[in-house]
Amino acid sequence: MSSNNPSWEVIWVTGASSGIGRALSVELARVKDCRLILSGRDHERLESLKNEIGQDRACIYAFELTGDAAMEEHVQSVQRLWGRIDRVVLSAGVSQRSFVLDTDFSVYQKIFDINFFSNVRLAKALLPLFLEQGRGAFHVVSSVVGKFGTPWRSAYSASKHALHGFFDSLRAEVYNKNIKVQIICPGFVNTQISYNALNEHGEKTGVLDKAQAHGLSAEAFAMQMVRKMFSTKQEVFIGGGKERFGLFLKRFFPEFFASFVARSKVR
Ligand SMILES: NC(=O)c1ccc[n+]([C@@H]2O[C@H](COP(=O)([O-])OP(=O)(O)OC[C@H]3O[C@@H](n4cnc5c(N)ncnc54)[C@H](OP(=O)(O)O)[C@@H]3O)[C@@H](O)[C@H]2O)c1
Repeated sequence: MSSNNPSWEVIWVTGASSGIGRALSVELARVKDCRLILSGRDHERLESLKNEIGQDRACIYAFELTGDAAMEEHVQSVQRLWGRIDRVVLSAGVSQRSFVLDTDFSVYQKIFDINFFSNVRLAKALLPLFLEQGRGAFHVVSSVVGKFGTPWRSAYSASKHALHGFFDSLRAEVYNKNIKVQIICPGFVNTQISYNALNEHGEKTGVLDKAQAHGLSAEAFAMQMVRKMFSTKQEVFIGGGKERFGLFLKRFFPEFFASFVARSKVR
């Protein structure tokens, strides 16, 4: 299935089986001349997404991000599907709903493994290819809680903050190498994220939070994200007024922000 046709871009999306990654893949196929590689773990959902997008526009590469296989092998396999990789969207991730006091230490390790270390491993495995091609783009899905912490999210927020440190450093290292590093910070988006979020013992909560249910639809989010992906912005926020207000307060009125976030309904 490989091709050297340069007219379209090859975009690899992790977390494509659900929520933001899924909606983004549909939107990219709708508005951009691209070929997609859809990653996640749930093969059935990836297959249904591929059918929706079109067999000639998308390939599936299902894998466990925290698995034992070398990430270099995954990158080589993905590259073979369409002959190259022009962009990667790192959307796979897992959230948390538990207080610090109650949370097992293993939950911190698990959330960092998925949200941070797997993305570091993937970026390190993909970077040599981008350098060899002389172009490439990393689109990293962080969160508003990558910019500030809230109750119930200590592990999740810390893992997203860590992404900013790593990818900001990477951007500085590849600044003049035609490699883009963009971080996207979503506010509340109505997906399965809270349902799949881990509790204090690392089990799925299985609950759709009110804040999530009232968030942006994944489709509306994806429309905005596709526009930003092809802009020159290095960090973008996409979300509602309350989350935007939080970012503003944290930056300009940090003392007031502390009492605001302590009272905020984040579930
Ligand atoms: N929704 C929000 O309000 C919100 C807000 C801020 C940031 N975000 C971020 O947006 C990204 C997407 O979240 P979402 O809302 O779309 O949540 P979601 O509906 O729960 O989707 C999560 C995706 O991540 C994949 N994934 C999770 N663990 C994985 C693993 N170990 N290996 C491979 N794939 C794995 C899942 O694949 P399978 O289902 O196939 O296992 C699924 O495709 C996440 O990084 C999240 O932190 C979301």
